[in-house]
Amino acid sequence: MERSPGPSRERVLLVDDDAKVLTAEVRSLGERFRIDTAASGDEALDLVRRTDYAVVVSDLKMPGMDGIRFLTRVRELRPDTVRMVLTGFATRDNAIDAVNDGYVFRFLTKPCPTTALRTAIEAGVAQFRLIRDQAELQGLRKVHRAMAGIIQGFTSLVEARDPYTAGHQRKVTALSLAMARHMGCDEDTLNGLGMAAMVHDIGKLYVPAEFLNKPGKLTEAEFSIIKSHPKVGFDILDPVDFPWPISRIVLQHHERVDGSGYPQGLAGAQILPEARILAVADVVDAIQSHRPYRPGRGRAAALEEIREGRGALYDPGAVAACLAVVDQVDVDAGPTFITQPRGSGDAGRADEEEA
Ligand SMILES: [Fe+2]
Repeated sequence: MERSPGPSRERVLLVDDDAKVLTAEVRSLGERFRIDTAASGDEALDLVRRTDYAVVVSDLKMPGMDGIRFLTRVRELRPDTVRMVLTGFATRDNAIDAVNDGYVFRFLTKPCPTTALRTAIEAGVAQFRLIRDQAELQGLRKVHRAMAGIIQGFTSLVEARDPYTAGHQRKVTALSLAMARHMGCDEDTLNGLGMAAMVHDIGKLYVPAEFLNKPGKLTEAEFSIIKSHPKVGFDILDPVDFPWPISRIVLQHHERVDGSGYPQGLAGAQILPEARILAVADVVDAIQSHRPYRPGRGRAAALEEIREGRGALYDPGAVAACLAVVDQVDVDAGPTFITQPRGSGDAGRADEEEA
């Protein structure tokens, strides 16, 4: 018999062929749990097939299907459901078997004081939540690992076609994460920032390779195509339902706090904090990196650039964090939040005209 929901989120099924026992149990427990009852193993199995119970409490001796067979079927159908016995025919042997065979969490005997039954069911509900939380966590870890793998695939895709970009996204990720940690960002923000940094130049897939590798100065038309890469990156990533604003971080990584950046000319707090951190790390790596038309300009020049642009072009907090951590970050070791991508070289490719 299905009853109206009570205050508890999880549901409990009581199985007993003695209607008087069930009525007394429901009266004492109905306030605390969402209780259903069944008078036989068959009726109870029907409910179990349709309902996700946290706890099932069953009598042992019932006409038709007995309690042991019923609980064994419950374990097969709903492995997470916590199973208990409440019986007036307990023997030492059947109690030991029930626990040792693993088909019950608690073995209770009638008459069972209300408080003892309630305490046992509460422990069962807590056990059920623990099982579900662990399963959820495992699932989330798997999804996170899969997502990180896909991101690394994207990174390799961008860097494979342009030797000057090889390693750039990985180095920018390592520096961005160190800066964000120094600024006190939480783990969730770090995960989103790390993934965005790993693919921040993915839009360059649409830029002809000869523009990226051109040894001379770019024409205005060529440069405007290169400047489309944040928007192209946004268009590639936006359909993916990431739990972080990855597409918007990528879109905004060339914005500047005074509104002089692109593609939208956003200013100050209009730019996501992650994008403001990424912008500083990107410029620092770009200035240090070799380009087709000039060698890398070195760390001192890179740090001078962000010091000069602090507050005007670059977020002051991000600049301070970069200056604090830059000497301690081993960018060549890559980011620590996911496995290091394969095939990354040492030479970096500047992110077009830095600053
Ligand atoms: Fe870029």
